[in-house]
Amino acid sequence: MKRLLSYIYPVTKTITSKFSGELEITWYNGKKHLNSENANYSYGSLQRILKFGLEKIQFKKVNSILVLGMGGGSVIETLRTDFKYTKDIEAVELDPVIVEIAKTEFGITENKHQKIHCTDAFNFVKTNTKPFDLIIIDLYIDLDVPDKFLSTTFWDHVLSSKSSKGSILFNASVKSSNATKIETLVQYLKTKVFKVDVYDKVNNTNTVIIASGL
Ligand SMILES: C[S@@+](CC[C@H](N)C(=O)[O-])C[C@H]1O[C@@H](n2cnc3c(N)ncnc32)[C@H](O)[C@@H]1O
Repeated sequence: MKRLLSYIYPVTKTITSKFSGELEITWYNGKKHLNSENANYSYGSLQRILKFGLEKIQFKKVNSILVLGMGGGSVIETLRTDFKYTKDIEAVELDPVIVEIAKTEFGITENKHQKIHCTDAFNFVKTNTKPFDLIIIDLYIDLDVPDKFLSTTFWDHVLSSKSSKGSILFNASVKSSNATKIETLVQYLKTKVFKVDVYDKVNNTNTVIIASGL
C-alpha cells in the first residue's frame, strides 16, 4: 500500500545523524530512496551514476570489491542484482545511523560474501593490507566530498589497496568549485596507473573517474 501511495505522493521518514544531519527516507516513483538535506545518498540518481561507471568495468576479472561510502547500499544492490556479482564485497561506512538504515530499510546486511566496516574510510585504507580488484569511492557529506578524500595521501593508500590489474571507480564531485582539485588528482593518477578516464556531467551532475591497471 505504501508503495502504491508513493506514486501519488512521497512518504517520508526523517532520522537525525551526527555526521550528515537530517536524513530522509522517501518513497518516490515506487522506490525507497535515502537522501541527505541537499543530496540523494542512495537508490536514486546516485545509483544511476554509479551504474554508469560500473558498465565500464570488466567484471570477469573482479573477485573482490571494496566500497568506500556504503550509504544505504544501493551500489551493492546494483552489483548483486544488475551485474549478478556473487563474489566478495567489503563496504566501509562512517555513520552507524546509516549502517542501521541500510540494514533495516534496505536489507543490506553482512553474510559470507559481504562485510560491513563501520569506520572512517581514510583510516581503513591507511591500515588495509588486502588487495581489491575494484574499489568504488563514493564519499560524501551531503553535497561535499571531504577534502581529505582529494588528497594524494588518501589516494596513495587507495592505490596500495588495489590489486595490480584492479580498477577504481570514483564518484568525484557535483561541485564546480572542486574542478581544479579534481584535475590535479587526475594528473597525479595518470602518473600512477595505466589508464584514467574522466566522465563529466554524468546524469547531468557528477564527474565520474575510472582508473585502471598498474
Ligand atoms: C552518497 S552516500 C554513498 C552511497 C552509496 N555508495 C550507495 O551506493 O548507496 C555517501 C556516504 O559516504 C559516507 N561517508 C562520508 N564520509 C565518510 C568517511 N570519512 N568514511 C566512511 N564513510 C563516509 C556518508 O556517511 C554517506 O553514507
